Amino acid sequence: MNRTYPYAETYGVVRGMPSQGRSRQSIVDELTEIAATEDTRWESGRCSGTMYCGDHDHYAFMAQVYERFAHVNILQRDMCPSATRFEGEIIAMTLDMLHADTDADLDSEAVGMITTGGSGSILHAVLAYREQARTESDITRPNFVKPETAHVAFDKACHLLGVEIRQVGVDPVTTKVDPAEMDAAIDDDTIAMVGSACNYGYGTIDPIEQLGQIALDRGIGLHVDGCLGGFILPWGEQLGYDIPPFDFRVPGVTTVSADTHKYGYGFKGTSVLTFRDKSLRNGQYFYMTDWTGGKYASPGIEGSRSGGLLAATWAAMVSLGRDGYMGYARKIFETAFVMQDAVKSHPELRIIGDPTFCFSFTSDEFNIYHVNDSLSTNGWRLNGQQYPDAIHMAVTRPQIRPGLVEQWADDLGEAVAYAHRHAGEKPLSGAIYGGVEGGPTVESDEFIRVVMADMMDRQQALPPL
Ligand SMILES: Cc1ncc(COP(=O)(O)O)c(C=O)c1O
Repeated sequence: MNRTYPYAETYGVVRGMPSQGRSRQSIVDELTEIAATEDTRWESGRCSGTMYCGDHDHYAFMAQVYERFAHVNILQRDMCPSATRFEGEIIAMTLDMLHADTDADLDSEAVGMITTGGSGSILHAVLAYREQARTESDITRPNFVKPETAHVAFDKACHLLGVEIRQVGVDPVTTKVDPAEMDAAIDDDTIAMVGSACNYGYGTIDPIEQLGQIALDRGIGLHVDGCLGGFILPWGEQLGYDIPPFDFRVPGVTTVSADTHKYGYGFKGTSVLTFRDKSLRNGQYFYMTDWTGGKYASPGIEGSRSGGLLAATWAAMVSLGRDGYMGYARKIFETAFVMQDAVKSHPELRIIGDPTFCFSFTSDEFNIYHVNDSLSTNGWRLNGQQYPDAIHMAVTRPQIRPGLVEQWADDLGEAVAYAHRHAGEKPLSGAIYGGVEGGPTVESDEFIRVVMADMMDRQQALPPL
């Protein structure tokens, strides 16, 4: 397949609005073929993260529900009161899982909002803290403090919202941030900080309890990024794994994000941002009461939204319940530790920090991207990282099938041998977020930006005539 212009050779290219429509059946047939081809990649069970559920029956069930509400615009609640039920109950289930106090008096009641994904929840959290600072303090140049391992979405949110981001280095061995260093980065203009449970890169959990104490002492907010871990760590804790409390049980935690579209097993496009206090959420509502188009209010950045995703997410959650989530979590944790044992069996490889379901490893003896190159040849798709170069595996349901961990151990052994043989050569893969294609990142930052801009342009381009 031509990766620059995918499917152009097989199905042609639509260069402008077709003068006549096509038959629905031919469209469905074509897309069924494409989807089936693309699904085979992750159905092998060899892809890190991304396909958290991977169960076609569950997808078909959610699609059935989605279909009934996809056309509904939930901005117009008089026409779809069901959206209020879905939204309210998704938030309630998430708050319950995160041990929020929903029985408090109305002003300090824990609440939530549904966003379009992890980055959306992070963006709205930063927005809420910025608006709170605007109305309740005289901060004019707000800053937000993050351990460098916290997701890049915080940097993006701060960039978009005009908030300074302050990064604090982490311990290279544990990958955890030192609370005293976070404290030192806070000043009178700090609106909030973040701790991850867990972070994307290493799957490790920041010292949330200590950060919560600092947040209380310094009078700032503490967001816990549970985008990745929010829907799996709670079950891991109940299963007895070493997972410290990271949610609303911890004093000082003011917001938590948890992605329904990751380990919540919903369709892509939803996440829940939860707030200890209603006033923090409500402070970022947008109102314009004197617009010619009518008095306007919206709870978040989006205007119109589809009811389909809400309905499908709700259906996913109530169809699984605690039992369902716990059952899958048990298998995911078990699989992740067996996969980690395979890594530990090679003295040349080193697991970074003390992870659980998502783990990262490097090598002090050879370039880890050689290991990745060999794993890729065997169909594996891990995620690349840098500083240090490392590759990570977020274990998901496609990996829990029988036989997969044995294949992992075999292919990893082959990959280590390959890395020894190719030591000193330039590997083919490198640290590109969400994957490892794209070559090693030894070039200058400016050069990488040009290459990445070109990559994004090409993702939206047509083949030349
Ligand atoms: C810890 C963490 N936070 C935030 C995000 C961003 O989530 P999204 O890609 O849904 O915007 C991710 C994505 O993997 C993540 O792992």
